[in-house]
Amino acid sequence: MSAESEAAEVPFEPEPAGVPFEPRVVALVCNWCTYLGADLAGTNRLEYPANVRIVRAPCTGRIDFQLVVKAFEGGADAVIVSGCHPGDCHYTSGNYHARRRWGVFRPLMDLLGLDVDRVHFAWISAAEGRKWAEFVTEVVERTRAQGPNTAFRAMAEESR
Ligand code: FES
Repeated sequence: MSAESEAAEVPFEPEPAGVPFEPRVVALVCNWCTYLGADLAGTNRLEYPANVRIVRAPCTGRIDFQLVVKAFEGGADAVIVSGCHPGDCHYTSGNYHARRRWGVFRPLMDLLGLDVDRVHFAWISAAEGRKWAEFVTEVVERTRAQGPNTAFRAMAEESR
């Protein structure tokens, strides 16, 4: 099992009863662009919601969509996949592979009854700390409006 697979699988703590819903977001990001963009946001002290758990992968081409499913299994309400801009991948074409893979995975996810609107893609470079902060804020607010990912949890519970 890869390190990123293990990290995506770490379950969130269950929400205590009576506590208002706070979206739980897993961000699967590439090491060379988005991770550094997120780091830059921190260095520049840009504020964004603390609801995101970052899982670093070498490249978006390495992000198998089983990782997305594992993140949901761990209790995520939304998943972000983000890496280098097209043409800027450190490994030349990993992000193109990721984009093509999503083209296949999306209808499959839809067919299985999973909510595709809870998976968010972005290209965020190492210089785009502000874009990272704004994107995370937008995803968290959208997820807050969607509510907890109860449909996936119910489905996962049924299949046990
Ligand atoms: S190294 Fe960033 S997407 Fe490939």
